[in-house]
Amino acid sequence: MTNQRDSDTLGMAEAEMRALGHQMVDMVIDHLVGRADEKAIEVTDRASLESVIGGPVPQGPFDAADALAMLRTHVVPKQQHGDHPRYFARVPSPAAFTGILGDWLGTGFNTIATSWVGGSGTAVTELIVIDWLRQALGMPEGTQGIIVSGGSLANFTAFAAAFAAKGRGVVYMNDQTHSSLKRNLTAAGLGLDDIRVLKTNAQQEYDLATLKAAIAEDRAAGRKPVMIIGNAGTTNTGAVDPLPQIADLARREDLWLHVDGAYGGPAAMTVQGAQDLAGMELADSLVIDPHKWLFQPYDCGVVLVRHPGALERAFAMSPEYLKDVMGGEDQVDLFNRSLELSRKTRALKLWLTFKTHGSVKIAAAIQAGMDIAARAQAMVEAQPKTWELVTAAKLGIVTFARRGAGPKDHARLVAQLTDDGWATLSSTSIQGRSVLRLCTLNPLTSDADLHGTLVRLAQMAVTGD
Ligand SMILES: Cc1ncc(COP(=O)(O)O)c(C=O)c1O
Repeated sequence: MTNQRDSDTLGMAEAEMRALGHQMVDMVIDHLVGRADEKAIEVTDRASLESVIGGPVPQGPFDAADALAMLRTHVVPKQQHGDHPRYFARVPSPAAFTGILGDWLGTGFNTIATSWVGGSGTAVTELIVIDWLRQALGMPEGTQGIIVSGGSLANFTAFAAAFAAKGRGVVYMNDQTHSSLKRNLTAAGLGLDDIRVLKTNAQQEYDLATLKAAIAEDRAAGRKPVMIIGNAGTTNTGAVDPLPQIADLARREDLWLHVDGAYGGPAAMTVQGAQDLAGMELADSLVIDPHKWLFQPYDCGVVLVRHPGALERAFAMSPEYLKDVMGGEDQVDLFNRSLELSRKTRALKLWLTFKTHGSVKIAAAIQAGMDIAARAQAMVEAQPKTWELVTAAKLGIVTFARRGAGPKDHARLVAQLTDDGWATLSSTSIQGRSVLRLCTLNPLTSDADLHGTLVRLAQMAVTGD
């Protein structure tokens, strides 16, 4: 007598599982194929969505296909679509299908990458992917790393390693450093007095003399400088700090150099980007976000640390109940490299993308994003009566101002475009100057997409406030 066991822990029949799975694959591919005809961003209001999908705790069964359709129709469209060809706001996330597939496989097998015995296959894959990224970004052999949820957590993880190595003390960043880094430092227990935010120069980069003076001043006052944070692509303008000089300064001063390349770092895989980002590889710790410019779906942030064992020195633990699953020599318990113990594997998607397409194609897709920004700049410059270029295309970002427009105007232009949803971009402020900002990381963006966006922005009224 065979013991008929259900395939699903909550009793869904195999035929229904297959039908739903195929339906979802079609749903996603239909979306990817037709996304340019959908909106780049859509915002819902809470009450109307609650009236469709909310209510009391569901108690009885409901048709799964209908439930899935409700999510497709009412929920997933209502967001910023970072993979849309006219999504130019903040930092896009132009995920490739191989990345999506890798995530699906990992979720389908409920993969975990934690202790060695608990997930040796996923651990090896993660170690391989980390080493591929190390090579692609020019870090030395022996560099180690971990994949976490994104740039914020990756930077936090690096800071913990830095403090474990150097102790706590004064940290230097500049006014273009992403705001999450200050939050990371205070969340890691640093007082605001120990965080120096230095004014940048006209290129939105560190002024080296200011940085040197700040370190000297702190030493003279009996404080202990421990870390310099450099930017490898600022979110505002794509600016890159003078990394070779900062690395030299950090070495002479015996400080930890952390480089935040969350959005810009992957551009080092291209010839042009490697020039822009020279010196990034000198970092003690470096962060990149594959969910930004390495074609991965959320979530995926990577921290690389050049000192073997530095992550473990910040995070290692060995509770009694995990001893029988921990690895030995040459085996890595990934839970000892960040705050996550139970952790999904984020390595399969990166592995599948690199294995399928190869680094040459990936680099070409990154270069395409930089070329699109250069074309956007040319379109802006071709209409000097309407636009003023503020910062030239750099690492896929270009900023410009509408003639006669003030900060409120720029914010209104963005709001109107976003309301319509055909395209979206950001407004920001660069050293007190209000600008519009296009971030063009998606190789699917066409000249017509850029042109249509600029035409729509030019047609809206401005009042000068
Ligand atoms: C330069 C930089 N650093 C850090 C972050 C934070 O990354 P995440 O949103 O993945 O946490 C961002 C996000 O845009 C960024 O652009």
